[in-house]
Amino acid sequence: MYLLNPLKKKLENILKDFKIVENLDLKISNNLSYDLQINNLVKQQKNKKIEEITSKFIEEIEKDLNISDYEITKDYFINLNLDLNRYLDILENVETNIKVKKQKKIIIDYGGPNIGKPLHVGHLRSLNIGRSLYNINKIAGNKIISDIHLGDWGMPVAQIINFCENKGIDIEKLETAQLEEIYPSASSLYKQDINFQETAKNINKKLNDSDPEYLKKWMSIKNISLDSIKKMLGTLNHTFDLWLGESDVNKIIPKMLKDLEKNKKISLENGAYVSNEKTDPKILITKSDGSYLYLTTDLATVLNRLDNLDFDAIFYVVDKRQKLHFEQLFNSLDYFQFEHKHYEHVSFGTINDRDGNPFKTREGGTKQLKELLDETKNYINEININLDFETVEILANTVLTYSDLITNRQTDYKFDLKRFTNISGKTGIYVQYALVRAKKLISDSDFSEDNDKIDISKLDKQDTDLLKALFKFEILFKKSIENNEPHHIADYLYEISNLFNAIYQSENILNNNNKIVRTNKLTITNYFIRYSLLLQKCLGIKPVSKM
Ligand code: ARG
Repeated sequence: MYLLNPLKKKLENILKDFKIVENLDLKISNNLSYDLQINNLVKQQKNKKIEEITSKFIEEIEKDLNISDYEITKDYFINLNLDLNRYLDILENVETNIKVKKQKKIIIDYGGPNIGKPLHVGHLRSLNIGRSLYNINKIAGNKIISDIHLGDWGMPVAQIINFCENKGIDIEKLETAQLEEIYPSASSLYKQDINFQETAKNINKKLNDSDPEYLKKWMSIKNISLDSIKKMLGTLNHTFDLWLGESDVNKIIPKMLKDLEKNKKISLENGAYVSNEKTDPKILITKSDGSYLYLTTDLATVLNRLDNLDFDAIFYVVDKRQKLHFEQLFNSLDYFQFEHKHYEHVSFGTINDRDGNPFKTREGGTKQLKELLDETKNYINEININLDFETVEILANTVLTYSDLITNRQTDYKFDLKRFTNISGKTGIYVQYALVRAKKLISDSDFSEDNDKIDISKLDKQDTDLLKALFKFEILFKKSIENNEPHHIADYLYEISNLFNAIYQSENILNNNNKIVRTNKLTITNYFIRYSLLLQKCLGIKPVSKM
């Protein structure tokens, strides 16, 4: 925590004097009567010098004006309370305090829809987590580039073209809905019909060789599909800096393969390029007919990014079922001696339906994101008939975002519309409602930001509970950034919304005749609004203006 940095340094130096080289393990306290805890001494219980270290710690803690009181437990946990007076400055400067010291340049590869197929429920988490990591890092001062990395190349497209040619469908005149029906049929035909398979492979090969006639067909399919994908992404409030895809690296693949072969990193085995790295199983770089694999385009995409973009890290926000793919990719990047950067698979679990089964439509197909959004909107309309169109739209997006981000990304979860729209649960609706109430309270009052002085002597327990919770912003924000985990922020937004509601519900603040108490509460409300807006921005949620 910003104001505690000097103390942190001093305590780390004491540890160093006793040959314990580690960072200060400063956390939010598990003990309700304290704000923070320091855990480093717990594992030093057997250290012969523990008493000496502890007394040096105490000496520094007592000198620090930011700490109002502390205790050391018999297990050597150190619990601390912050001095409210000192910490009010932190509240004022939160946006500056959370800036990173050293700016990083990060590419976030997320979304990853495939052309020819509509966005489906499986895309939701990548979109939500990706956008949130984008916003959080941007707010922290990092330089971020988002790239949607379209699946716009390879067999699926070849299957669609083949299907259209077989059925005499004019590709130039295709409609989105028709295209979306074609892919499942083409893909099942491919599995059953050996002739269809052969012609599709041929088309794929021609595309890889940049055959102009096929490139033209591919382009029409891509345009139609991308239009509808973009429209849906717009409805869900997603934008991307780069709309690149697998097709954008097709041209650089032959040279990449040639170079790798020349450097003895890959060799031909039965027509397929295989990595020379000793792994089990061996890593396949191309198929035996020379056509490209998912790994081929991902390798070339890294090369392309190295050549054209300036970055320190790439985060791939992709389903955890692709773990092996990314292990092979990162392994190969290393083995092939591509320039070393931080490459990370930010993986996530599955969304299931309310009963824990894979999300399907009534007909058994993959559930489209549009259907889920419409169901959510309808449900919100049903439970609250007085909302206008725009509010319903924002609330539905809030539900699809918040319920997703509140879950630890590694965990699978069940999408339960009734639970996720509950006005009094840990939901997006609840956090929006708390914010609307707070804004209304301020606009109905005579509050102005110039008279926002808090008089500490007149704070009650509910006030200090919220103020102390606001101090934790920095710690949870950092935790989210360090672990690429938006759920800390989502959870924290609920926590402060809940604490604000407690204040709001306990009395009619505007009727309180004590001016100091009223100003205190309105000032705290104003802080709550500011924090809530900042947290919503981190999560990719738009605030509603009324509810
Ligand atoms: N299109 C891929 C899929 O549907 C996801 C792409 C993720 N990004 C990447 N660079 N591999 O599975």
